[in-house]
Amino acid sequence: MNFKKAQIGALVTTLSIFSAQLAHAENTEVILGLQRQVSMEDLAKSVSDPSSPRYRQFYTTDEIRKLAAPSDQDYADALAKLQNDGVEIVSESPSHLYVTVRGERSYFEDLNSNLSSSVQGFLSFFSKPAIARVHGLEAGTPRRPHLKFLPQAAAASFSGIAPAQIQQSYGFDAIYNTGVSGKGQDIAIATYDGFLIGDITEYYTKNGINTTRTVDQVLFNGTPKFNAMSATETQTDAEFSGMIAPGANIHIYASANNGDAGELAMFTKILDDGVSKIINYSWGSCETEVTAAHRADMDQVFARAVAQGVNITVATGDSGSDCLGNKTTVADYPAVEPYIVAVGGTSLTPATSTTAASETAWSESGGGVSTLYGAASFQSGLGSPYNAHRSYPDVSFNADPNTGEATWVHLNPKTNKKAKTAQYVVIGGTSIAAPQWAGFLALVNEARGSAIGFIDPIVYSLAGQNQSEYFNDVTSGNDGAYSAAVGWDAVTGWGSMKADRLLAELKSQ
Ligand SMILES: *[C@@H]1O[C@H](CO)[C@@H](O)[C@H](O)[C@H]1NC(C)=O
Ligand SMILES: *[C@@H]1O[C@H](CO)[C@@H](O)[C@H](O)[C@H]1NC(C)=O
Ligand SMILES: *[C@@H]1O[C@H](CO)[C@@H](O)[C@H](O)[C@H]1NC(C)=O
Ligand SMILES: *[C@@H]1O[C@H](CO)[C@@H](O)[C@H](O)[C@H]1NC(C)=O
Ligand SMILES: *[C@@H]1O[C@H](CO)[C@@H](O)[C@H](O)[C@H]1NC(C)=O
Ligand SMILES: *[C@@H]1O[C@H](CO)[C@@H](O)[C@H](O)[C@H]1NC(C)=O
Repeated sequence: MNFKKAQIGALVTTLSIFSAQLAHAENTEVILGLQRQVSMEDLAKSVSDPSSPRYRQFYTTDEIRKLAAPSDQDYADALAKLQNDGVEIVSESPSHLYVTVRGERSYFEDLNSNLSSSVQGFLSFFSKPAIARVHGLEAGTPRRPHLKFLPQAAAASFSGIAPAQIQQSYGFDAIYNTGVSGKGQDIAIATYDGFLIGDITEYYTKNGINTTRTVDQVLFNGTPKFNAMSATETQTDAEFSGMIAPGANIHIYASANNGDAGELAMFTKILDDGVSKIINYSWGSCETEVTAAHRADMDQVFARAVAQGVNITVATGDSGSDCLGNKTTVADYPAVEPYIVAVGGTSLTPATSTTAASETAWSESGGGVSTLYGAASFQSGLGSPYNAHRSYPDVSFNADPNTGEATWVHLNPKTNKKAKTAQYVVIGGTSIAAPQWAGFLALVNEARGSAIGFIDPIVYSLAGQNQSEYFNDVTSGNDGAYSAAVGWDAVTGWGSMKADRLLAELKSQ
């Protein structure tokens, strides 16, 4: 057979019109992934490789559309056909890589099975259909927040490490003294469910932190419902990243749906908007709970973030090496994604006027070795088995609830339900570590005056040259299967930042 592209296209269109007798069933919303002309990994590599002509010249959403999306004509044709089939277009991504649609479930199931059939695979060899994937037919394992509370008994006598002690312990004061506050930078908090934005600004006011910057919520897939635990995660993220970067604007992208499609929609929206160059994400699952198809989808999304010069800091989880919590060593998702900065947890003894801060590994810091992701290029210098698969975390920060920090939230920690009034709740978990790294990256970007790009390769290179110059190496403690050690380890990565020195070096890069 030697069909021409146009003939096959016509044949496919005719067949689909004949079979468009759709059963009347419930309406469902899905995200259609459109065919990519270029892989996001290729774009990510081109901005990350010092020998590439695109090195550190990050792509805009518009460039991504021109390079990677179907042609404008194919895109328009695909949307017209969907509408002709009775499908409603709910929202379009300006990247033209996704379109959110609503229609009868049976239609999308049919489309999905067509896309995965070998006949379609054969036809697509001649005529690339614009639609490649149907996301959202399965909810997927919901993402969980990575926060941990201080037990009630301990909470009575510990009010949390104060912001000023954190700033002093990690060397942030020296940065603020130079006038760098994260101004002009935008941090996106990627999260789920409803929250109370007023608590966040009250936290800043109560702690004497700048309140003149923008703190807002970006709606994109409906209005999320309030959930006290989710809100605690969201508000903690916003409060603590804004505490570290008091000049940065904070944009909260709370998805109304915490399944696979909600995760995809959320990151796509942040990247489409293109405003925030730093994304903090404190939610996750175990890698074995996420389908291979969704992991492949998110690989593309995270690689796109690198191509756009966006850093994503992710909490590594709060169950040590045992993500499932059942004595099985399983890695955390998305901490194992190769294109994110995975932030693990420590127990911090803060600095005083006479002593320096010190840290040990937090026993529940998520860390280990993926069984599903191959080696990350920047980890090739780690010894076996860490250089054979993606190993994590990359870096760490205070996260032990016993050395936790106080968040201002409407939460009753006895019931985990909404409290009538806001109060301080001492909180830990790698969820408090990742946002503080996100805040640090905002300071770095302001100091540089430009984005440096995905930081992991740089972190590994600097730490490999002289870890103690830039990082507080954490050498004691373990997370179950893995132990902290001199150099990189699978509990705390390279350790926490010596913020002033690391920033000075990243500024000069
Ligand atoms: C699926 O493929 C069949 C056979 O080619 C076609 O009739 C049908 O319209 C397709 N369904 C969708 C939703 O594209
Ligand atoms: C407060 O935030 C604004 C807006 O980003 C910024 O211009 C200002 O410098 C910040 N002030 C301090 C003290 O951080
Ligand atoms: C832990 O949970 C996983 C997934 O449900 C299961 O495969 C495994 O056998 C469990 N391990 C133990 C020790 O219960
Ligand atoms: C940042 O992400 C971490 C982990 O992914 C999460 O625990 C934390 O709450 C997030 N912080 C913000 C400000 O979103
Ligand atoms: C990514 O993180 C690095 C390391 O801190 C930072 O220097 C860089 O500016 C960040 N890039 C963006 C686009 O935020
Ligand atoms: C590494 O950094 C430490 C701490 O700043 C410094 O004392 C030491 O001289 C450095 N070593 C090398 C080889 O540069």
